[in-house]
Amino acid sequence: MIKAITGTKDILPSEISKWYLLETTVRNIFINYNYKEIRTPVFEETLLFARSIGEETDIVGKEMYSFVDRSETSITLKPEMTAGVVRAFIEHSLGKQQSLNKLFYIAPMFRQERPQAGRLRQFHQFGGEALGSKSMALDAELIGIAFFILKNMGLKDLKVKINSMGIPKARASYKIKLREYLEDKKSDLSEDSRKRLETNILRLFDSKVESDMKIMKNAPLLIDYIDDESKNDFDKVQELLTKLNIPYEVDPTLVRGLDYYTKTTFEILSGKVGSQSALVGGGRYDLLVEQLGGDPTPGVGFAAGIERILLACENENSLKIPADKIDLYIVRLDQELTSEVVYLALGFRMKNLSVDFDYLDRSVKAQMREANKLNARYVLFLGGEEYKFGKVNLKNMESGEQKEFSLKDVDEMIKAISL
Ligand code: HAM
Repeated sequence: MIKAITGTKDILPSEISKWYLLETTVRNIFINYNYKEIRTPVFEETLLFARSIGEETDIVGKEMYSFVDRSETSITLKPEMTAGVVRAFIEHSLGKQQSLNKLFYIAPMFRQERPQAGRLRQFHQFGGEALGSKSMALDAELIGIAFFILKNMGLKDLKVKINSMGIPKARASYKIKLREYLEDKKSDLSEDSRKRLETNILRLFDSKVESDMKIMKNAPLLIDYIDDESKNDFDKVQELLTKLNIPYEVDPTLVRGLDYYTKTTFEILSGKVGSQSALVGGGRYDLLVEQLGGDPTPGVGFAAGIERILLACENENSLKIPADKIDLYIVRLDQELTSEVVYLALGFRMKNLSVDFDYLDRSVKAQMREANKLNARYVLFLGGEEYKFGKVNLKNMESGEQKEFSLKDVDEMIKAISL
């Protein structure tokens, strides 16, 4: 039997209500903040990701789904959305049409990571990107949007962590200091960390190896080396978060796994999903647009993992999703009335009622069982003696009350059902 690819998941009808709820919450909240939705292709030129996320990152180095297509172009399934949004922003000169572009998305992403709870190879993100302003009001706004969406999903066990990466020049002099500190400790580092020392030294803070963690505990911190402008901006973000009543903690060891960040970075973690606890990650990227060939344009954004959020909701038991219901089930008492049922159902469906009936030539008893299983609010009985006089019976399944209507009075029935 052919099965789904490892690390991918079918989202079955029994789970879809949770997805609808989250997606509706995401759309409503972004629209309240005046963000507009953007959709970009699922695949892009590989170069786009290498240039933006960074050659030495885990994502580009070992997690991308890349292939050469029939026209010899190297293509990659998008591992994240920021690069694609920035590419589209430049390609369509969005910055010329509007000085500030506030954009959001909900889309599938692809990374060949080792699958585990909360970590998939095809997963879904929603996120927001604001392009065109250096104002820290946007950094705080985006942290707020992510936080309020999670709160709206009933999550309580959340931690907002923030840090500042400074500007690249300050970061470069900090990296020299960090390298100096690690120079005589190299031999005590894990093999992975020794490798990262050469390629992506900041990621040493992410190591979960005991001996690495011990060494990194006393390492100099980036926050003590960042430039004055970044420092002032970091203070401003904190002031705004306090004003917005968003609890946060400064984590000077928070280094993100993508290279494009400048100044603010942040994550929101859940205490209820085990090791893959980051529900949200984001930050400012003031140099990325220019780096990808556009006019210098500051940017800031975040992305959140939908599967992880739903896992957190499940573990916190935070969602009370009502059982599926339909408005009306039409029970056919006589076999030969099928075309009449089909026609009647159309009339109700066109008036925005959810309606179903039997397609399997089932007995009346079995049709009633089906109506109950579907949680039908009303059942309409078509056929029998009263049908000969142009009448039908409509039963309210909750009260048990039954009322006779003229078959021609569909509008009256709709009124009764819509109450
Ligand atoms: P990221 O931290 O790589 O950032 O991903 C954001 C979120 O996507 C994570 O916190 C996690 O919830 C989810 N996620 C990532 N990988 C997986 C996976 N393999 N399985 C399930 N969920 C996953 C970014 O993607 C940046 N583009 C965020 C950003 C936007 N920064 C600025 N703008």
